[in-house]
Amino acid sequence: MYCTRKVTEDLFWVGGNDRRLACFEGVYSVPDGVSYNSYLLIDDRTVLFDTVDRAVEKVFFENVEHVLNGRKLDFVVVSHLEPDHSATLATLLLKYPEATVVCNQKSFEMMKNFGYTDDSLKTYLVEEGDILNTGHHEFTFVMAPMVHWPEVMMTFDKTAGTLFSADAFGAFGALNGNLFADEVDFFGDYLDEARRYYTNIVGKYGVQVQAVLKKAANLEIKRICPLHGFVWREKLGDYIEYYEKWSRYEPEVNGVMIAYASVYGNTENTAEILATMLREKGVKVTMFDVSVKPESEVVAAAFKYSNLVFASTTYNAEIFVRMEETLRDLVAHNIQKRTVAFIENGSWAATSGKKMRELFEKCKDMSFIENTVSLRSSLKETQLAELEALADAIAITVPGIVKETPANATAGSEGKTGAPGANDPNALFKLSYGLFVVTTKDGDKDNGCITNTAIQVASNPNRLAIAVNKANYSHDTIVKTGLANICVLTESAPFDMFTRFGFSSGRDTDKFKGYDAIKRTPNGLLAVTEHVNAVFSGKVVQTVDCGSHSVFILDITESEILSDEKSVTYAYYFDHIKPKPKRADDGEKKTRWVCKICGYEYEGEELPDDFQCPLCKHGKDDFEKIEG
Ligand code: FEO
Repeated sequence: MYCTRKVTEDLFWVGGNDRRLACFEGVYSVPDGVSYNSYLLIDDRTVLFDTVDRAVEKVFFENVEHVLNGRKLDFVVVSHLEPDHSATLATLLLKYPEATVVCNQKSFEMMKNFGYTDDSLKTYLVEEGDILNTGHHEFTFVMAPMVHWPEVMMTFDKTAGTLFSADAFGAFGALNGNLFADEVDFFGDYLDEARRYYTNIVGKYGVQVQAVLKKAANLEIKRICPLHGFVWREKLGDYIEYYEKWSRYEPEVNGVMIAYASVYGNTENTAEILATMLREKGVKVTMFDVSVKPESEVVAAAFKYSNLVFASTTYNAEIFVRMEETLRDLVAHNIQKRTVAFIENGSWAATSGKKMRELFEKCKDMSFIENTVSLRSSLKETQLAELEALADAIAITVPGIVKETPANATAGSEGKTGAPGANDPNALFKLSYGLFVVTTKDGDKDNGCITNTAIQVASNPNRLAIAVNKANYSHDTIVKTGLANICVLTESAPFDMFTRFGFSSGRDTDKFKGYDAIKRTPNGLLAVTEHVNAVFSGKVVQTVDCGSHSVFILDITESEILSDEKSVTYAYYFDHIKPKPKRADDGEKKTRWVCKICGYEYEGEELPDDFQCPLCKHGKDDFEKIEG
């Protein structure tokens, strides 16, 4: 018996639903089934838009016959040759031999390859922008190669504003009587399956999806009729926005997806502890055991989340087999623009971390967190600090996360509005500090910055802490590599050393250009050797998010004394090294604001509250007003 639905007064859905299919395309589980959509237009001349999979052919032919109601079929538009939409084409043409097949040249070749037809077929071969007129409706054709196969094309009904979008904007899931997306809570109940469909079917082809979205932006689309899933007639822009995001490989959620492979539960246990640490730092987390979760779900989640963690045991000196399959699938789907961290396990030779990273090095715009945690069979109490350091390094790279710390948890309470004068920022200048060049290395690029906060925080083990502004390139490099050298500056350091290392960004400057007083330490980083009395090489064991700055706690791996000169203090810098602000000598009185840290001058009566020194990144509180 036929089962159809009206899309508009003269357009009918004539497809079918399959809830028995175990694996779509032989790969993707479809627990909620799948729909094969076909649409039939009743105009002066009739048009069928695509056929269906063999699984639903009985109801499909009954639907077509019912809607035609004795009319002949004039045209069959073939958008996509994949057999889930074309397997019944040959049978259809036997039933309706007078129909002309509307397709492009590539589709025509593919039809022959699949054995659906031969050269005697009546065809109207179309190219981009060609027109088909059926009486009241005029159609044009939009080529969409690689969304999902090379022959794919969309058809746009210029009269009704209907886009027949082929696989694009489709979704897994049978329709259950609901033809339109607005008949269900799509974004609440169906978005996950739509994402899993997109990422696994066309996720690899983001560039091609972007190209067709650009073309679609010039069409006045009122409804979208895809080959799977719901018809869209409301909130089209909301769904298109998801396609924009997915095809640009931009995450929807600032958070962490942890996927793990664990044979006896020890890697899983470590992944659980990491997830707990991250959640306590205010980071959203989702987790997958790749041994039991279908790869397609991990792929979809990887497209959804900004940060990825993979934890795997080592197996046959390789990545555990189910993890390796999942990662290869993810890489094949072109995942990019993610920050990735790894946990490896091995009872005698842990290699999975290195091997997992090698797979992702083929992907575009990936950042890696260097402090891979390496387990020997299981996580030990002594490694908790290392895991915490990994959690800190991950949390810092999750975009837009506001971490709840005791300091910001109490903001707005009595401490902020307490007694007048209780929060004088100048009091901070009474603290004594030294000054240091912190050197880092990003790939082949050496960099250095100035910090005034380096202190010894433990003697067993010997540990230093440094605070680095998050806006600094050095900050990101330390997060990435876990390495830094701290060079202790002396009183002989000239102002231009502070200018060189402190007042520009290593992102666009080579701070060591033309600077010879350097040497390379065993960790591969540079150390400054002039106006420096000691150098410490450090490896990050913990990172603390302090708001504008991160504090890195480092194990000292090497240390060396270079001279007996006195270390410079912050106060000495202000009194003897930093040039004093000059009065204006043009006779005109102007109000200036001078940065007490680097000497940058801002001219104007008022300094904006959110002003940040463009040189040293210090805020309004570090400026003093100079008049005249
Ligand atoms: Fe639904 Fe690419 O076929």
